[in-house]
Amino acid sequence: AIDPNFEKNREKVGEENGVAVWGPVEPPESLGIHGTHVAVDYDICLADGACLEDCPVDVFTWVDTPDHPESEIKAEPTNEDQCIDCMLCVDVCPVDAIDVDPG
Ligand code: SF4
Ligand code: F3S
Repeated sequence: AIDPNFEKNREKVGEENGVAVWGPVEPPESLGIHGTHVAVDYDICLADGACLEDCPVDVFTWVDTPDHPESEIKAEPTNEDQCIDCMLCVDVCPVDAIDVDPG
């Protein structure tokens, strides 16, 4: 499951699609955690898609991650600023790849 303390335990190594990327990142196998308020562990996500289907405010968009061992697409929390903290995505992800911090 995603580490809920990733902001302490990892370093921000850059930005993609307008969201922070938390390392380590070593493509194509290791892609890190994407997002901060809504965070997706790319190395756990297997492209189930429930988060995209169920998020009431369309926070997530697909991005291509060719040659990643779990899946070749991932859910990017592109619109994390829109999140209303309903926690649905956290509940529906079958591999616990998502952390939402209502702060
Ligand atoms: Fe969308 Fe709710 Fe998840 Fe926020 S907590 S990203 S609003 S499903
Ligand atoms: Fe990935 Fe979980 Fe969404 S596997 S696509 S983060 S439901």
